[in-house]
Amino acid sequence: MNRLSRSVQSPRVLNIEDLRTRAKRRLPRVVFDYIDGGAEDESTLRGNCRAFEALALRPRCAVANPMCDLRTTVLGTSVSMPLILAPVGSCRLMFPRGEEAAARAAGEAGIICTLSTLSGCRLEDVAAAAAGPVWYQLYLVGGRDCALAGIERARSTGFSALVVTIDTPVAGLRERDLRNGAKELLSGKVAQMLPFINQLLVRPRWLAAFFADGGLMKFENVVIPGNGPMLYADVTAALEQSVVTWKDLKWIREAWNGPIVIKGIHTADDARYAVDVGADALVVSNHGGRQLDGVAPTLRVLPEVVAAVGDRIEVLLDGGIRRGSDIVKALCLGARAVMAGRAYAYGLGTAGGAGVSRAIEILRTDLVRTLKLLGCASVAELDATYVDVPREWLPE
Ligand code: GLV
Repeated sequence: MNRLSRSVQSPRVLNIEDLRTRAKRRLPRVVFDYIDGGAEDESTLRGNCRAFEALALRPRCAVANPMCDLRTTVLGTSVSMPLILAPVGSCRLMFPRGEEAAARAAGEAGIICTLSTLSGCRLEDVAAAAAGPVWYQLYLVGGRDCALAGIERARSTGFSALVVTIDTPVAGLRERDLRNGAKELLSGKVAQMLPFINQLLVRPRWLAAFFADGGLMKFENVVIPGNGPMLYADVTAALEQSVVTWKDLKWIREAWNGPIVIKGIHTADDARYAVDVGADALVVSNHGGRQLDGVAPTLRVLPEVVAAVGDRIEVLLDGGIRRGSDIVKALCLGARAVMAGRAYAYGLGTAGGAGVSRAIEILRTDLVRTLKLLGCASVAELDATYVDVPREWLPE
């Protein structure tokens, strides 16, 4: 075990919150807050976590389950547990070659990793590092031709599903990023950067790793014809010029003949649209509370979505997963698996791949313990009888 792995073992790191605390110590504030923060008042960010607290478990006691089976399949792929690493942008700012480290850790753990369009490592390098199934998350930044080129690279390097995020017609108002001077730090102009530069200087270990990894990442998978990879500072404007609509799903479907996952479903109506455009799975997601603040927590809308389309499409959920019991609760309400972003990003920011592995291990041991305490032998057996669903969460 190397130094980084040791630094995240018990009793120093017992849970995801411990990884969060450590990530806060290693990362500059502007990078930590990019992971940790949400939109506006962050009420949806908090609400996602609180919804898990509001759902009580109903154990069956005096039941022995010496071995609990965590295995399942997602879109036909066998996975060791119902957890998928969600797409997280800019992982390369959290740790050198961050996306490769995350994909490697996921593969070693037998789970799927999703690479964001807004990543700093090349699709090809992530696929090579992965040693397990990888999905590619698509934004249309850079326009249709640029997206088509990304789709083709994903296909030829073996990404097995395309995840289309539909909740980002504009970036949410992330006030922490504004206060931390994210825009000024990216401007490249010394006078603008100066008032905010101290937060980088007080993190010399991160700074050394950042420069050793080549300095500010570019978006290696958004290659603008004639211009090369998109510059980091151009992303906000590019997002606004590249709204995905249901119509786009038609040409995306034609360009990609593998499974399509629609991420960013909040209502039964949009879930039905996802089925209509031929998606194979959807993610009940509010982007981790980073987009429209004030929307309902994902766990809260899961029953509505499952009731509407659960027999026709695989339903996944993200937002607020910090404990294995959160995964259990989502599965009890009908999710096939969950995606988690912050939970592993905190690990990545703390100790690179070793931190991601530790985050996955924490959630895995939590899951086993929770199943045993519930008196349930496998994730396949979880259903609504293991939770007390508040009446108002149930669809009419
Ligand atoms: C990108 O998708 C982000 O939420 O920052």
